[in-house]
Amino acid sequence: MSGERDPRLPVPTRGCPDCGRPVRWEWAEPPVSAWCPLPCLLCAHRGAERDAAAASARSPQAVTDRRLGESQMGTRFLDRTLDTYQAETPAQRAVLAKCRAYVAEWADRPGRMVLLCGRPGAGKTHLACGILHALAESAQVDGVYVKVPTLLRRIKDGFDQDDAPSQSEVVEPLMTAGLLVLDEVGVQSGTDWERVTLFDLLNARYENRRSTVFVTNLTYSEFERVMGDRLVDRLYEDGGMVLKCDWPSWRRRTT
Ligand SMILES: Nc1ncnc2c1ncn2[C@@H]1O[C@H](COP(=O)(O)OP(=O)(O)O)[C@@H](O)[C@H]1O
Ligand SMILES: [Mg+2]
Ligand SMILES: [Zn+2]
Repeated sequence: MSGERDPRLPVPTRGCPDCGRPVRWEWAEPPVSAWCPLPCLLCAHRGAERDAAAASARSPQAVTDRRLGESQMGTRFLDRTLDTYQAETPAQRAVLAKCRAYVAEWADRPGRMVLLCGRPGAGKTHLACGILHALAESAQVDGVYVKVPTLLRRIKDGFDQDDAPSQSEVVEPLMTAGLLVLDEVGVQSGTDWERVTLFDLLNARYENRRSTVFVTNLTYSEFERVMGDRLVDRLYEDGGMVLKCDWPSWRRRTT
């Protein structure tokens, strides 16, 4: 029909609808009968990058890294694993083997506790973080690491400071964590309030069969005295393990 405008004119000059970058347009035959932009290389590239980033964020390694990042473990210990722990003596090998067994038997032994005791520098924190590490990786456990003095200070801050998290906001995540590593047990001053606070936390975990790894520089009998019979008794239920790290400090070794 003469006089009717050819719909295929003019050719669009608009850029990519998403990023504005120049793109080529192609006329799509009926039934589409419209100008369509050819895929924009930049957007396709960005999309591919986004897909790759999303896939790597979901990768097992990324998930484990995120868990460890949220565990509150000190950055020094992020690379301290059971694999990087060097067992040089029979006693060290035995304790390391027990730590590995704890990880391997995790699924079958809910609520099982561990106590690592021994002098400073023996590698107790390393081993405890190694357990947390291994469980984050192999059993997707969301472990939390906290030192007793830090925990008690945080709770006290909640009493004294209006803008600090309340006691329940501090304690709740520790009650529900898949694994709790409680370090520096015994560094507290041992007031009744401290004892009751720790007992309530640990008892809540015990009642819900949630495992706790205790780390202390105290001897086993000192630990018993500080924590009290009721708690120590609970340690043995579900096959709890007492691991005595009776060897000299790694920091001071001469070899
Ligand atoms: N057997 C070991 N193999 C490798 N590193 C060790 C070993 N023992 C201790 N360390 C390292 O020595 C330092 C002190 O250990 P740490 O776990 O803090 O001791 P503890 O908690 O018993 O005081 C840490 O950096 C730890 O990684
Ligand atoms: Mg330590
Ligand atoms: Zn584009």
